[in-house]
Amino acid sequence: MPDASGSASSSSSQIDHVLIEDRKFPPPSEFTAQAVISSEAQYQELYDQAANNRDGFWDAQAKENLHWFKPYDKVCEFEAPNAKWFVGGQTNASYNCLDRNIDAGIGDRAAIIWEGEPGDTRTLTYRELRTEVCKCAEAMIELGIGTGDVVSIYMPMTPELAITMLACARIGAVHSVIFAGFSAESIADRNNDAGAKLVITSDGLYRRGKVLPLKATVDEALAKSPTVKHCLVLKRIGNDDVPMKTGRDVWWHDVVDSQPGTLPATPLDSEASLFILYTSGSTGKPKGIRHTTAGYNLWAKKTFQWVFDHRDDDVYWCTADCGWITGHSYVVYGPMSAGATCLMYEGAPNHPAEDRFWDLVEKYKVSILYTAPTAIRAFIKWGDEHVEKHDLSSLRLLGSVGEGINPEAWMWYHEKIGGKKCPIVDTWWQTETGGIMMSPLPGITATKPGSCTKPLPGVIPKIVDETGKPVEDNHGGMLCIAEPWPGMLRGIWGDDDRFVEQYWATVPGMYLTGDNARQDEDGYYWIMGRIDDVINVSGHRLSTIEVESALVSHPAVCEAAVVGRHDDLKGQAIAAFVTIRDAQPDEALRKELKLHVRKQIGALAQPDDIRFTATLPKTRSGKIMRRLLRDVASGREIVGDTSTLEDLSSLAKLNDED
Ligand code: WT7
Repeated sequence: MPDASGSASSSSSQIDHVLIEDRKFPPPSEFTAQAVISSEAQYQELYDQAANNRDGFWDAQAKENLHWFKPYDKVCEFEAPNAKWFVGGQTNASYNCLDRNIDAGIGDRAAIIWEGEPGDTRTLTYRELRTEVCKCAEAMIELGIGTGDVVSIYMPMTPELAITMLACARIGAVHSVIFAGFSAESIADRNNDAGAKLVITSDGLYRRGKVLPLKATVDEALAKSPTVKHCLVLKRIGNDDVPMKTGRDVWWHDVVDSQPGTLPATPLDSEASLFILYTSGSTGKPKGIRHTTAGYNLWAKKTFQWVFDHRDDDVYWCTADCGWITGHSYVVYGPMSAGATCLMYEGAPNHPAEDRFWDLVEKYKVSILYTAPTAIRAFIKWGDEHVEKHDLSSLRLLGSVGEGINPEAWMWYHEKIGGKKCPIVDTWWQTETGGIMMSPLPGITATKPGSCTKPLPGVIPKIVDETGKPVEDNHGGMLCIAEPWPGMLRGIWGDDDRFVEQYWATVPGMYLTGDNARQDEDGYYWIMGRIDDVINVSGHRLSTIEVESALVSHPAVCEAAVVGRHDDLKGQAIAAFVTIRDAQPDEALRKELKLHVRKQIGALAQPDDIRFTATLPKTRSGKIMRRLLRDVASGREIVGDTSTLEDLSSLAKLNDED
């Protein structure tokens, strides 16, 4: 254990590991007995093959898992930062998700089981889904869309959202899904950056019982989007007073429903762009992350199969919106390439009540649930009674993604949702990586709360300091990926320089993830937060998540965010923002929390400031915005009256756009 007294020195580029987490949960033997990957040896063999004979490994996977209209000449061509996979080959992601399953005899299996927020439901088999996708693709062709054209999608989580994505893929149009919570300004920026020709939207969406007028927002955006020629509008709400601009706007039911629905998939180059997805950069304008067809499709499918241990009778539910990469890879492309039955839910988790998710799990007998720590922490706050009302015995596997999961939240998920019998896969990855990079394999990995455990086959992680030298075990450093993998991003749309600078310039030859991580004595990886978030206290570099997890392990704390603020003496002091439950936000609690962290970790990590707040500012995808909190912590604001809760939600509203 590192010296937590504050006196030991550490090299400037390492990060001190301070929180000790000893709990370990082996997979239940019943799970292992039936698992797709059921022995350590099987994993090791796959891992070694992919590491030692990369091209041979992926050649075999590509042949087995994708349909090829034309075989490729070469498996991989890599000269950092540029990678090409399955060079010269032709495939189609919509074909792989639909036709390939229908040809394999599972056309009558449910692909999507959907429930709208008001409670309306729909089920689409793979065969029915293909017909809908073809109709939408046929309508897009009538609207002048062809291979290589960019289509912006701004839709509620209805089946049509998946249908439009797959319809683009069917004809080689490049989709750019924009989360239906973004403003007109954000839509216009994305339309312009990508040169979108078509926008697909709906008359509105339901959110907590209210209607949000999506088309009105799109109209505002289109006034500033000169490249967009048409807008295709789905009637979701039944709003009749939606203004339709003649010559530009068309109703879905007018142009899609009457199509034949038979369009064959276009054979596309392996490296044809499949989609762009905008993700916020740490500064400035969002980056359009570009993914291509064959490599991405294969990565989404294989990682889905490995990590979620998919079986034919599973009902799989990834709660992410398709506006995020998780929705791309694990609502649409991964599970559908694998022929899975996916539950899709349109609305809020607390409408009409805080038990909506558990109601859905019970009603549809969900067996695999994949959600985010921000949701788990909300469920904890809402209270166990909402969970206990429901029979969750259908669940066999749980997943987490998006942020580090604090060990206490992990334990709650394990006990209350998983009934102590479901493995938890804490999956680490990024928009840029296309799919999961590190995760437990549920049949074999003994999990440790808070660790994403080990890399998947084909992923070669390295933890290095600023000079590119490997960091010793149990010290944190920058997490890089040393070898190309099929799902990796191929660039930032229209900005090659930024692509190089952001991901490839810091450590030559390796992909820089932008996260810090450490590897423990068992070879397990622990993500320690973003590189920019490290706090330097008296020469010790501390990770945010470890201090936050210590705070969250106190029964009064729901959520915690820690940031550094300037301190003349120590360089930086630790400022913690916490939300609490069943407790008084007073001086006594503040003191107790400081002591609690001191006991859990050591004097070094004891927060200097504790601020109680009603909410933490988050991005639209639910990540805590430490960057904003750094501003708040560093002055401008008086450390207030001890009894008031700071309400940072207004701050969140102002700043969570991009
Ligand atoms: C960043 C990527 C991955 C899809 C959704 C988010 C953080 C993600 C974990 C995890 C710790 C995680 C990282 C990463 N992150 N998953 N399991 N443990 N941190 O995609 O918006 O591109 O964000 O999210 O910091 O770099 P994204």
